[in-house]
Amino acid sequence: MVVGLRTRSRALLAVVVSTLIGACSAPEGKTVRPSNRAPRPQMPPRPYALAGPLVPAHTTMVSAWDIPADPIYDEALDALPNADTIRLGYRIFTNTQAEAPAISSGKVSCSNCHLNAGQRERALPLVGVSAAYPEMNRRAERLFTIEDRIIECFMRSENGTAVTTTFPTADSREVVAIKAYLDWLSRGHEKGQHPTWRGKNAIPQDKLVPVAKLNPAHGKALFLEKCTNCHGEDGQGVQIGDKKAGPLWGLDSWNDGAGAARVYTLAGIIRYAMPYLDPGSLTDEEAQHIAAFITAQPRPAYPHKDRDYVKAGPPPDAVYYSKR
Ligand code: HEC
Ligand code: HEC
Repeated sequence: MVVGLRTRSRALLAVVVSTLIGACSAPEGKTVRPSNRAPRPQMPPRPYALAGPLVPAHTTMVSAWDIPADPIYDEALDALPNADTIRLGYRIFTNTQAEAPAISSGKVSCSNCHLNAGQRERALPLVGVSAAYPEMNRRAERLFTIEDRIIECFMRSENGTAVTTTFPTADSREVVAIKAYLDWLSRGHEKGQHPTWRGKNAIPQDKLVPVAKLNPAHGKALFLEKCTNCHGEDGQGVQIGDKKAGPLWGLDSWNDGAGAARVYTLAGIIRYAMPYLDPGSLTDEEAQHIAAFITAQPRPAYPHKDRDYVKAGPPPDAVYYSKR
């Protein structure tokens, strides 16, 4: 049974990958100087309709290179005074460690979790996100600006604390650039409004399994069956065409203070965005068992966990935090 499924998805993968390699020649995160930018390569027509501004959640890996709003090739951008900053933000977002080595480490770009450069439905999309801030942050227990949020992503999801003890500020080059990209993705969105596609990566409350009842061994069996084609048995990611899945644990992964180091948060990413050739095919429960397996693995330590959840205490799925 296990073998049959793996063979089938390998065959599917081969078809998808050969189509992808043949069809697209714009590697993600490629650095192109706006002044001598080549025209956008001829893309074949989309075999699916966009969901508003987003790549729909049900598309498989055929859509992995689809960036509906791509600042590198958008010529209307040239009219904006901060066009270069927006383009830098996009490059950092899609190629983080190469473009922002001073405040990130490891091998996971922002776009590994926020698929299609933050423009995919149910993969933590960020179109319109700037309009929703400032907002209360549960972990810090204070009001967050969008810059605060970006800074936290660098220090936790990008494991920035492995390379610097100094946190970036709202004026740091990288933060200014990412904010410019997210603001550009949020143009036309009214301040204070939450886009309808926001917050759709959560496992429904009534489907949450208590953390103590989750079974990492069952999660591991599911992982071996459904994920290792692309993520490898060691979880470090396999090259597929010019895409590579990021390390799910170990020194090159996000640190243990990141949102994705929480069982339910990680399950919510997996449930709707993975496995990449059949997103949405896992049950809520399966996604949680797999997340319990992944969060039982070692990953870099975020050194300031004692400053989080100070009043309320860590939530039950923040498994890398000691109970207070
Ligand atoms: C390992 C996966 C992962 C990576 C890598 C990652 N993020 Fe996130 N991001 C998340 C998750 C999960 C959330 C949802 C909130 C949470 O942390 O619980 C989130 C939330 C956000 C939000 C807030 C969204 C909202 O609706 O309020 C922003 C903005 C953001 N990320 C930007 C970034 C940027 C910029 C980077 C790279 C510097 C990045 N993220 C890297 C997983 C990731
Ligand atoms: C067909 C290949 C494929 C399969 C199968 C697959 N993934 Fe992925 N996964 C990827 C790729 C590629 C990315 C990076 C996304 C991108 O850059 O577009 C990714 C990203 C992720 C991420 C975000 C962080 C990171 O490390 O990149 C998580 C978490 C994840 N996958 C979990 C899973 C789990 C769990 C399964 C099995 C249920 C799974 N994936 C199956 C290809 C795959």
